Amino acid sequence: MVAAVTLVGRAAGCERAEVVLSVRGREQRRIRFGRRAVSRTVAIAPPAGAERVRLRAAGCPVRIASITTTAPVAPTPSGVPLGTAIQAGQVGMPDLAAAVTSTFRSLTPENELKWARTEPQMNQYDFRGADTIVDFATAHGLAVRGHTLVYPSETPYWVRRLVVADLIRKALVNHIAAVIGRYRTRIREWDVVNEALDWRGQFQRNTLFNALGPGYVEDAFRAARAADPKAKLFYNENGIEGPGPKQEAALALVADLARKGLIDGVGLQMHTTLGAAPSEATLLSTMTAFANLGLQVEVTEMDVAAAGLMPLRWRLERQAQIYAAAGRACRALPACTRFTVWGVSDRFSWLTPAQLPLLFDAGLRPKPALSALQQALA
Ligand code: G3I
Repeated sequence: MVAAVTLVGRAAGCERAEVVLSVRGREQRRIRFGRRAVSRTVAIAPPAGAERVRLRAAGCPVRIASITTTAPVAPTPSGVPLGTAIQAGQVGMPDLAAAVTSTFRSLTPENELKWARTEPQMNQYDFRGADTIVDFATAHGLAVRGHTLVYPSETPYWVRRLVVADLIRKALVNHIAAVIGRYRTRIREWDVVNEALDWRGQFQRNTLFNALGPGYVEDAFRAARAADPKAKLFYNENGIEGPGPKQEAALALVADLARKGLIDGVGLQMHTTLGAAPSEATLLSTMTAFANLGLQVEVTEMDVAAAGLMPLRWRLERQAQIYAAAGRACRALPACTRFTVWGVSDRFSWLTPAQLPLLFDAGLRPKPALSALQQALA
């Protein structure tokens, strides 16, 4: 545990003085003072159970005006924060919740913040699922990723029935303002638009595109920026981890939003398999391309489908290498600020348990991928 000690003091009768902080006879820190009274704060790591910090002046006397200490605080873990997707129903599972709070530093509601869940009918909101997750995160000091305000291929039916472009745009803007407004202080980063492009790099043909054209993406980001100017706004996409028409289109899309000051980051989903995973070098090159636009980059939904005919031990080892390679690529780039896997346990994966895609197995036992990824991110 780490505690902070703040001394306000000055050298008395000489130019320079030093105070030695020790705990149970062991020197922890030295603080220098000059003639002018100043406040100095240092972090010390007292042995468990230690209650007292002893001070002594080394050299000439020191006049200490005040000493304050903070309660011991858990050391801030270093490295890239590791997050996970979670479902509201899983929050009440004690073993899963314990795995979450001891392993992850952020949560992504898997479905509970999607439009059809939060606003199933026009101006009728249902935040119960999202609140369950956000309350759990708040209680355990975990950050929350707001996934996702606009998932074009999953626009609720009632929006489709509006037909008139202007009504659809108003529904889009109102939805974003309502959802961001509700979590304004508790969700600091949002996937504003998720998966607007198809594998060729074209805009997917869906309700929003058909009614509003490609400009619906900018409309969504403008609404989000207006709703919470301090929030970090992301475009989240799959299949852009390596070069190709879809990655080119995503780069062009976010570069335009960046020029307009409407976007802060890009989410690379990283849904992959044992045979198709991008190499560490490819990922680093992709992340760098997006970072060069002045954006944060995150891995937002990683899972590695590991079904196959090879022996299980080989598949789990290969899976661990793939997670670790992605973790090293993220760790190598300062702009890569968070790494999220798409679920806690194989038991609940959208890919089905048979694919063994996540860091904990169906019995919530850690798999080789967990420690491999944690070491890569540390
Ligand atoms: O909750 C209902 C349940 O009441 C009903 O009986 C059941 C059968 O219809 O459906 C349940 O809802 C399902 C929901 O997952 C919860 O399990 C939806 O039908 C199903 O479409 C939904 O799938 C989610 C999918 O996104 C579509 O929204 C997956 O859980 C979720 O993992 C997946 O996540 C997406 C990201 O949001 C975006 N990137 C790709 C990723 C994987 O597809």
